[in-house]
Amino acid sequence: MVQLSTSVCLLGGFLGLLVIAPVLMASTPASMCTPLKTLNDSLSHRRRYMKHNFPINYSVRVYHEEIFKLTNISKLRLKVKELDELVLQRLWFQVNQGVLKKIIRVLPERHPSRSYAAELERRFQDVEGVFIQSHPSEVFQEELPETVQDIWDQLTEEPDRIADSSWRFASPKSLMDNLCHTMYCLFTECFASTEAQQDYCGVSHWRKGRKTTSLQTEVEPGE
Ligand SMILES: *[C@@H]1O[C@H](CO)[C@@H](O)[C@H](O)[C@H]1NC(C)=O
Ligand SMILES: *[C@@H]1O[C@H](CO)[C@@H](O)[C@H](O)[C@H]1NC(C)=O
Ligand SMILES: *[C@@H]1O[C@H](CO)[C@@H](O)[C@H](O)[C@H]1NC(C)=O
Repeated sequence: MVQLSTSVCLLGGFLGLLVIAPVLMASTPASMCTPLKTLNDSLSHRRRYMKHNFPINYSVRVYHEEIFKLTNISKLRLKVKELDELVLQRLWFQVNQGVLKKIIRVLPERHPSRSYAAELERRFQDVEGVFIQSHPSEVFQEELPETVQDIWDQLTEEPDRIADSSWRFASPKSLMDNLCHTMYCLFTECFASTEAQQDYCGVSHWRKGRKTTSLQTEVEPGE
């Protein structure tokens, strides 16, 4: 009897592991998909609100670490061994909350893009809220790989301690393009289409897009 229940326990535990394993391995909790898609819907209007409503060549001053593109992700994956997807996702939130703040800061109260930018920030925070909720709090206290920690330290540095040479200028539209493309890459499970296996992390995915009409609203030359 004892033995039976032990083996039932073991079997149960084993099956439990089987069931849990895929959940742990999926890097994006399914609960994040709805707020991510809502954010994506807002981002689809970024050309109008983040480009046309601004003077030509308008740019925002950002930390150079706030220019976070697909190439940064692939470089980090090469450089840091066994880089956890969660770490990249945390970095994405850290980068883009700063980016959105900087864009909002340059917009006067009555600027026609002001409420759009505020909406983006709100939806971004909604995604972040679900992200934090859906992971045990300990994972956010885990030590970051050194390379990522260095970036993090720069991102959280006070502006007056940033050397002049470390600032970059980027257009609001290009910053939102970065946010959007890296979002598809890092939260692929929520965006993957069923028909074609899309490689959202591949830089060429977006280059190719420039020549097709279906992606014209999202991609433009000369970013
Ligand atoms: C993001 O939103 C746009 C516009 O709503 C939509 O066309 C596109 O398919 C969405 N992207 C993904 C990867 O789901
Ligand atoms: C915008 O930038 C481009 C490329 O740097 C330059 O050729 C163009 O003259 C600029 N336009 C304005 C209005 O400053
Ligand atoms: C991404 O790469 C650019 C160019 O190499 C660099 O300036 C920037 O700091 C990198 N961003 C991050 C977050 O590492």
